Amino acid sequence: MVPVSGLQESGHLGGVVLARKPFGGIRKVVFDWFAERFPVTPWAEATRKVFLSIHRQMPRSHAEKYELKTIWYWYPLYCLGGLAFISFIILTITGIVLGFYYVPEGTITYDIEGNPSSAAYESLVFIMEAVPLGFVWRGVHHWAAHIFIAAVFLHMARVYFTGAYKKPRELNWILGVLLLLLSLGFGYTGYLLPWNALAFSAATIGINMAKSIPIIGDATADIMFGGLALGANTVLRMYWLHIFILPLVGIGMMILHMSIVWIQGIAEPH
Ligand code: HEM
Repeated sequence: MVPVSGLQESGHLGGVVLARKPFGGIRKVVFDWFAERFPVTPWAEATRKVFLSIHRQMPRSHAEKYELKTIWYWYPLYCLGGLAFISFIILTITGIVLGFYYVPEGTITYDIEGNPSSAAYESLVFIMEAVPLGFVWRGVHHWAAHIFIAAVFLHMARVYFTGAYKKPRELNWILGVLLLLLSLGFGYTGYLLPWNALAFSAATIGINMAKSIPIIGDATADIMFGGLALGANTVLRMYWLHIFILPLVGIGMMILHMSIVWIQGIAEPH
């Protein structure tokens, strides 16, 4: 070990002597304080594991692993779950913008000519006609919803026809079925929000179906539609389900669903 002349020795790294710099002690105290609270090494280790894990699952995929002679023709359909998720993100962003202007108030009012309307419906007319690019935000939300539902269904079909629901992925299939119901819930509650004639008709069918359930029919209708008859509460309830309850439950379930895919890897072709 060669001491560095004129400087105080404080330690060494790989045989090189390090000199103590002014305020080195204070710096060390501050650094240690942060290092104790935000340790760097575990994160680096976790990143390394993620990196290795991704490389374990992705590129040398099924074709090599299962010695397939051709590129398997189902592969393009493996993006459908991801497409559903991307649509969901687009729905979230456009939904937040629409939420700035939408008014969840379904009380029916009549203009001087006797035409029915409501604050909810008027707020959508406002979005379409007065909000800058409002019709674009609404249009993108509308089409992303269609793509979302289609992608979820087709994704389920892909999982079924490739046999990917089999052991050890049964639980993720069940979680997927719940996600499918939740997606339909998103669609239905959103469909009612404009509170136009179409929405009112759909709500009429829904509340009648709910009421026809034996024993718990009335209670179900009451919880879902805010009463035994359609009214102002119906829109508010659909809105709360659409923008809070379903996203809250749905985001948690999607994270769980995709975490399980990450842990288990994509199923081999059967
Ligand atoms: C919001 C809805 C959903 C999202 C965002 C989603 C997302 C995903 C993603 C990203 C994957 C990775 C592979 C791929 O993309 O094909 C996946 C795999 C899987 N999903 Fe979904 N999914 C949804 C709904 C469903 C439904 C409705 C089912 C079935 C009822 C389902 C069952 C499965 C299963 C079993 C796998 C594992 C497939 C394999 O290992 O090859 N998912 N999901």
